[in-house]
Amino acid sequence: MVDSSPLLSLSSSPSLYPRVVSELRTAGCVFAEDEARLILSAARTDGEARNMVARRVAGLPLEHVVGWAEFCGLRIAVDTGVFVPRRRTEFLVGQAAALALALPSARRAVVVDLCCGSGAVGAALATVLGDVELHAADIDPAAVRCARRNIGSGGAVYEGDLYEPLPRELRGRIDVLVANAPYVPTGAIALLPGEARDHEARVALDGGSDGLDVQRRVAAAAAEWLAPGGHLLVETSERQAARTVRTFEAAGLSAQAVECDDLDATVVVGTAPAAGTAPTAGTATTAGLAPTAGTGPTVRPTPTVGPDPAGSTGLLSRGRGPEGPYRDRAVPAGPPRRLPRRPA
Ligand SMILES: C[S@@+](CC[C@H](N)C(=O)[O-])C[C@H]1O[C@@H](n2cnc3c(N)ncnc32)[C@H](O)[C@@H]1O
Repeated sequence: MVDSSPLLSLSSSPSLYPRVVSELRTAGCVFAEDEARLILSAARTDGEARNMVARRVAGLPLEHVVGWAEFCGLRIAVDTGVFVPRRRTEFLVGQAAALALALPSARRAVVVDLCCGSGAVGAALATVLGDVELHAADIDPAAVRCARRNIGSGGAVYEGDLYEPLPRELRGRIDVLVANAPYVPTGAIALLPGEARDHEARVALDGGSDGLDVQRRVAAAAAEWLAPGGHLLVETSERQAARTVRTFEAAGLSAQAVECDDLDATVVVGTAPAAGTAPTAGTATTAGLAPTAGTGPTVRPTPTVGPDPAGSTGLLSRGRGPEGPYRDRAVPAGPPRRLPRRPA
């Protein structure tokens, strides 16, 4: 995580502020005043501030310009090119945290953040859960460098393809496996906003022809790595959720999609068979959003699946709407616990 102390205060550069606001506004930044304040508090010198403004005007995401993103109340370092953690992914953190907190308290939860990017999800889970055995991995060296900074001594971060770099002794021991893998269909990448399309690594976005290629690989090997009764959670879009659920079920997990309207977030939660129960691979045929009488989520029409530009741009909208109650709870979750804010 990054130090949040202001370096170049507005009072030390009173003439710069209106100029920065004006330049940002001219470049089309809707929240020019807020962005100017953030840039001026992140820059150490006037020269650095000017350089940051130039990069923002050129179209870089604000998070890459200032070097951090706010996520679950934490300041997460985000280097150029690394995926910027989205507000919607706070829902994934909340669901994963609730499952980890429901484990027997006698032992430390084993949590893995696969496709960790900046390590935002793992860092947030470590903060919420406190005493946790955390492992994170990503294939992109730039993301791994960021994750190591953000997770620090709170866990181990590995570089490599999905499970390949994880220590072998984790097999069969993972209680909660989160994987915010890329899920934008290849054909929809061109439709993404420029900030994502041009400034985030392709490997962070491209999920293959239907968006689910990486999720399928994650799910296929999950049963081997999860503890009995352990959980796999992935973020997806509403329209892709039914297919993701079927993928989980084909891999031997029971699965359900849960949604949060306020964050426009959809998460599929899979659960490995408990010790002593038979695996269910290939037996389930229903889509995850179908209701389970009496106990399951609210009935919703099964969404159309397939390549979906709207779903993928949904991934990238950075709404800052208020948090609200979650619908369709499949886990004993309240809203994700707000994490303590670092001192301003
Ligand atoms: C959508 S980003 C999510 C990053 C982070 N979990 C978050 O929520 O902010 C997907 C991440 O998956 C990583 N990734 C893609 N393919 C991978 C693979 N085969 N093995 C490991 N990581 C992969 C990308 O490098 C990227 O950091």
